[in-house]
Amino acid sequence: MITGASSGIGAATARAMAVAGADLVLSGRDRERLDAVAAESGGLAVRGDLTTDITALVERAGPVDVLVANAGCGWAGPLTAMPDGTAEQLIAANLTAPIRLTRLLLPAMVERGRGHLVFVASIAGAVGVRDEAVYAATKAGLIAFAESLRYELRRVGVSVVLPGVVDTPFFARRGAAYTRRWPTPIPAERVARAIVAAVEHGRPESFAPAWLRVPARLKGAAPGPFRALADVFGTPVSRRARPGATP
Ligand SMILES: NC(=O)c1ccc[n+]([C@@H]2O[C@H](COP(=O)([O-])OP(=O)(O)OC[C@H]3O[C@@H](n4cnc5c(N)ncnc54)[C@H](OP(=O)(O)O)[C@@H]3O)[C@@H](O)[C@H]2O)c1
Repeated sequence: MITGASSGIGAATARAMAVAGADLVLSGRDRERLDAVAAESGGLAVRGDLTTDITALVERAGPVDVLVANAGCGWAGPLTAMPDGTAEQLIAANLTAPIRLTRLLLPAMVERGRGHLVFVASIAGAVGVRDEAVYAATKAGLIAFAESLRYELRRVGVSVVLPGVVDTPFFARRGAAYTRRWPTPIPAERVARAIVAAVEHGRPESFAPAWLRVPARLKGAAPGPFRALADVFGTPVSRRARPGATP
């Protein structure tokens, strides 16, 4: 089962999983885009909003061996400018839905003695990102959920995939374009390959691109220098002080 299969990373993962020989259940909200991915990958399309229709999705799906909890949404800007209700939407889609889905699918995996859970988090959840406090908090919650759950499970694998900046409609949908010059966005197919490899090799944690583990480790080992660097490199070009510019 792949959530968020109607777009971006989820659609690329559906195509990659189909090539790997998986029988797919694809979840998304947009009928047309979801049907197109289902036609391409041979999967079963189950349309619905994960914040409201999760039980129906699980009933339609039947037994699930691998869950890729990928669906998610963002919002960017200063916390004081965030509209009412947005934080709740982000938490519902990015954190509550994957936890609920796991609670519904896991008992049968444990009973069968096999299964794999993949959570698509974000580098934002590992290090924090300016103007994305609530989004980063949902992804940090997802990482902690997966890391903790892994201790409970013996025969069900748990993987966290942490993408950096990926070229998908994510930024247009959150209403704020990606404005940093660096890092350069990677194609969704690269994250899809990391997801497939995480399942095939039972990897607990994968960064996409792989070098992102360096800032994540630096944050853990040297938080002070990391914050100083992030303050400079994490600031959008448009907001950096330019010589002669009025602050
Ligand atoms: N793009 C990046 O730079 C980036 C970086 C790090 C992490 N991520 C994470 O990667 C995941 C996939 O993002 P993406 O870049 O592929 O974005 P995307 O192209 O906007 O795709 C998001 C997917 O999630 C689905 N979705 C969102 N809210 C949903 C809800 N309430 N119920 C059901 N489905 C819902 C969307 O369904 P519909 O299209 O049908 O509405 C869509 O299929 C997200 O969790 C995101 O946080 C993305």
